[in-house]
Amino acid sequence: MDSLIGKVAVVTGATSGIGVDVARAFVAEGANVVLAGRRRELGEALAGELGPAASFTATDVSDEGAVAALLDLTVERHGRLDVLVNNAGSPSQLGSIEDVDAAAFRAAHEVNLMGALYGIKHATGHLRRQGSGGSIINMASITGTRAVYAGVAYSTSKAALISLSQWAAAELGSYGIRVNCISPGFVTTGRFGKAAGVAEETAQARLSALEAYAREQARSLQALPRPGFGPDVAGAAVYLAGDASAYVTGHDLVVDGGLSLGQPLEAMVRLRDAMAAIYLS
Ligand SMILES: NC(=O)c1ccc[n+]([C@@H]2O[C@H](COP(=O)([O-])OP(=O)(O)OC[C@H]3O[C@@H](n4cnc5c(N)ncnc54)[C@H](OP(=O)(O)O)[C@@H]3O)[C@@H](O)[C@H]2O)c1
Repeated sequence: MDSLIGKVAVVTGATSGIGVDVARAFVAEGANVVLAGRRRELGEALAGELGPAASFTATDVSDEGAVAALLDLTVERHGRLDVLVNNAGSPSQLGSIEDVDAAAFRAAHEVNLMGALYGIKHATGHLRRQGSGGSIINMASITGTRAVYAGVAYSTSKAALISLSQWAAAELGSYGIRVNCISPGFVTTGRFGKAAGVAEETAQARLSALEAYAREQARSLQALPRPGFGPDVAGAAVYLAGDASAYVTGHDLVVDGGLSLGQPLEAMVRLRDAMAAIYLS
């Protein structure tokens, strides 16, 4: 439990869901962690809960100046920066492309794509000056490589994020800076409530109901018959942040319980048998 000792990490979108579990795992592995998000009260309470190795800086990642200030402040406070997790994300409505609202489309890209771009852009100067490499992790999604798992704004922003990560990895490798993505599948967080237009508190309160439903669905949708949880993704982030992944860059690490593999054998057998029954009836 000490793979990140001496490292300083920034985790955006760490006021709920996956980001909280990433921050918690990083602290457990010995890192100093700056949590970021817009909800100050919640972020400060979470940082307090994680102990003296954690602090919170209120940041809206769609504001380039705020992202630059977050990274500057981190280096002022801790003397260095080693890991940036661009995890902040905003969902978009699932619906027809004919109904796409241009402003909402841009807003999703502002957070999911531009927020990460600002992070990479302003972390690079610090990492280059230090001269000891660094790890940038972008929270993408399997929706970035597969259609219709989520709204079109969200999917396209994550596709661009995967491309941005590869581009940055190719450029920054010569400074020892690694850039990778994590692409989660279905992880039970309040995100789905937000996508449905439900208030944050309600979304969080209904998480156990969502989990029960997701468990049921996972059986017919994916190889591993359970939904994902924050710590599943946090484990991948710890790997990409630490020296165990020293030779890994430009990678998109899929953490989806096999969802993107297609339907599990059992479901396909059921489909085959149903079709056979039609022939035989
Ligand atoms: N859950 C899944 O199944 C799943 C699957 C694939 C990928 N992902 C990705 O994983 C990441 C985390 O998602 P989650 O499921 O944990 O969702 P979540 O619980 O809704 O958390 C989203 C986080 O992003 C922050 N955020 C949103 N807009 C922001 C902004 N403009 N500036 C700064 N922070 C902002 C939120 O904090 P504030 O509201 O305090 O700003 C919150 O901490 C996202 O990038 C998401 O796309 C999730």
